Amino acid sequence: NKIGIIGAMTEEIELYLNELKDIYKTQEAGFDFCGGLFEGKEVIIVKSGVSKVNAAACTQILIDNFNVKTIIFTGVAGSLNPELNILDIVISKDCLQHDLDATKLGFEKGQIPFTELKNFNSSEILTSLGITSGTQQKLNVQKGRILTGDQFIENKEKAILLREEFSGDCIDMESAAVAHVCHLNNIEHVIIRSISDKADGSASVDFGEFCKQASKNSFLLVKTMLKNINFEIKNNKINTEKLKDKIRTVPDWPKPGIMFRDVST
Ligand code: ADE
Repeated sequence: NKIGIIGAMTEEIELYLNELKDIYKTQEAGFDFCGGLFEGKEVIIVKSGVSKVNAAACTQILIDNFNVKTIIFTGVAGSLNPELNILDIVISKDCLQHDLDATKLGFEKGQIPFTELKNFNSSEILTSLGITSGTQQKLNVQKGRILTGDQFIENKEKAILLREEFSGDCIDMESAAVAHVCHLNNIEHVIIRSISDKADGSASVDFGEFCKQASKNSFLLVKTMLKNINFEIKNNKINTEKLKDKIRTVPDWPKPGIMFRDVST
């Protein structure tokens, strides 16, 4: 199960590249894909660049050309939830595109026209693994809704409106694009975003000051997640063992010499 790790900017992925072992590199559509082992797991790391289109293109290439089965986005975001402070972490429950607006055609804001799609759910297993891993690292983590659009938000009133309209916890420029493409391909994903700013009047200054530190927090969390993934797999094996107890064996049924077996859960 190869894992794709995407970050939009150099700050968001450089710590991973520093620790990547047995590296191979290839270029696709102008993106540099770096494969190797991270925490003993096979990963492909890529810098997508900023914007929904870049993030979507990278995600599709990871799925098509590198056969990843899980995608983790790592990076920073602006907070919309007043409870979230700079350097806290949001682990995605779901994501939506706040700038998608076909209300004039009768659709809801954020809804993909002519579909029922609006919120893209993250993998519940990965989200809870994220919470456990962040708590282990003593980071302030919270499950939440991520809003994405092709705009850097630096306006308190706009941030308040976005929170009211979509119940968003933080805002960025890529997550919902990744989540949307993962949904189309039936691939599990989670987004890990540490807060770099509050999307208010001082957002660009705060972003410059805290981007690196926030990126590091997301990195520490994802690194712990990857360490813990073995544990999850082991737990699954234990569950498989439990399942064995539920196998029913009926000898000589439906006729002599045949052993009937089934399992009910
Ligand atoms: N990423 C980090 N901060 C952001 C903001 N304020 N708006 C959009 N994307 C961001």
